[in-house]
Parts: sequence; structure tokens; C-alpha cells
Amino acid sequence: MSWGKHDILERSPMLMFIGILIVVSIGGLIEITPLFWLRSTIEKVEGMRPYAPLELAGRNIYVREGCYLCHSQMIRSLKDEVERYGHYSLAAESMYDHPFQWGSKRTGPDVARVGGKYSDEWHRAHMIDPRSVVPESVMPGYPFLAQRKLNYKDIEAQLKTSAIVGVPYTDEMVENAKVDLETQAGKNTADLEAFLARYPKAQARTFDGNPNEITELDALIAYLQMLGTLVDFASFDESGPNLR
Ligand code: HEC
Repeated sequence: MSWGKHDILERSPMLMFIGILIVVSIGGLIEITPLFWLRSTIEKVEGMRPYAPLELAGRNIYVREGCYLCHSQMIRSLKDEVERYGHYSLAAESMYDHPFQWGSKRTGPDVARVGGKYSDEWHRAHMIDPRSVVPESVMPGYPFLAQRKLNYKDIEAQLKTSAIVGVPYTDEMVENAKVDLETQAGKNTADLEAFLARYPKAQARTFDGNPNEITELDALIAYLQMLGTLVDFASFDESGPNLR
């Protein structure tokens, strides 16, 4: 059998290495260069806003407890997923997530659109003891969240840090972070209107059923109840007019 000129390459590790490098760079260029000609790789979508402070605190608890190890937040554009979970996830829906919570494992269901699916009471019972509402559940309970007071003394710094990595928190949002957090948890109603102007569609109430204290459960349920609720898919048009 004749190897032709190929054996020159195959007998020299150095030449083979250079050859591989050339082939891989061509592949890389084909994948990467078009991105520089796109106006944006993430199209902004009507309705997306940064997390309100209480939601952000809840998101931190979600990350701290490792909920992403069993739950994804990324609905793929496949028929069975869309039928089960709703509209497939848009890149813009996680544009303010640092780090993103797409996840890679679904021991439990995807939670990208779990907001509004259940009542606060259901979430409370479920977080404290999942088997009280879903008998066959293998999810661990997190009863301590209802007891632990939410520590939010550094919430302004958290908003500022998010702003550094590109989340459009304004100075006004940072200044009002504490008040906004308390307003959303139902502790304070005087600033409700200003809060809603800063965070449209935010839901403000006692999420954990205990009006006397802001607990970690308040924050986590506030976060779960807003997931997937910002973009209005009834009027969303994939061809573009909603994109701005
Ligand atoms: C060991 C894996 C595991 C971990 C960790 C886990 N879950 Fe779950 N989760 C599940 C399973 C399985 C289900 C489905 C059964 C049920 O509803 O309990 C579920 C269901 C849910 C649901 C209901 C989703 C729906 O659409 O019905 C929510 C909300 C939820 N989990 C939130 C959380 C949060 C928040 C955390 C972190 C504090 C968490 N889970 C951690 C496994 C897990």
C-alpha cells in the first residue's frame, strides 16, 4: 500500500503538530469570526430588567445551596421541552445572571419559568418538606431557610459589584437597595410605587408567610416567583419587532 505524501506528515511529530494547528485554527476562525460582525450576540428583549434586591438575595441562596446541581434554567427549543416548560429560553433572559444558572443536570425539572406556576404556600411547604406536597420527591428539604434571617447588610455592594460586570443598576437603584429589599418583602409600603418604577413587574409581599421577619425563604421564593415572568410571550414575536 502506498502512503503517498502523507507519511511525511505522519512520521514527523513536529510536522503533524503544525498540520493539526493549521486545521484547528481554520475551524476556530470559521466559528469565531462571524461573531465580530454581528451587532450583538445577545439581543435585548422587551421586559428584561436587573433583579430587584430581594430577588438577587434569593438568587444568591439558590447558588449557595447548589440548587443548580439538580435544576436547569434553560429550556431548549425542542418540542417536548417547550410543551412541558413553555417558550424556549432566550439568551437575554439570563443576560443579567453572573454566573448564569443554565445548569447541566435535571434531577428535578427545569425552573426557568417556574414563576407563577405555584402559590407561595406551595413553595413554602415544598422548600420545608418537599414530600409534603410531592410524595415521590427526592428533593432534600431546606427547613432552615424559614428560620434564618436574611443577611442583607451588603446588598448595596452586591448591586454595585453586579454593575461593574455590566448589569445596568443605576445609582438610584444602589442607593435604594435596602429600602427596595424591605419593600418587596412587604415590610414597608411607603416606597412601593418608586420600587415598582425601578423594577417593573416585581411582586411585593410576605413570601414566607411570616410578616415579622425577612428570612432567607422570603428571598428564595421571591426569586422563584419571578423566574421567567419578565418577558411577555403572548406578544413576543420571534421575527424581531420585540427586539430592541
Ligand atoms: C437532589 C436534587 C435536588 C436539589 C439539590 C434541589 N432540588 Fe428542587 N426538585 C428536585 C426534584 C426531583 C423535583 C421534582 C419533585 C418535587 O417537586 O419535589 C424538584 C422540584 C423543585 C421545584 C418544583 C418545580 C416544578 O416545576 O414543579 C422547585 C421550585 C424546586 N425544586 C426548587 C429547588 C430549590 C430552590 C433548590 C435549592 C434550594 C432545589 N430545588 C434543590 C430535586 C432537587
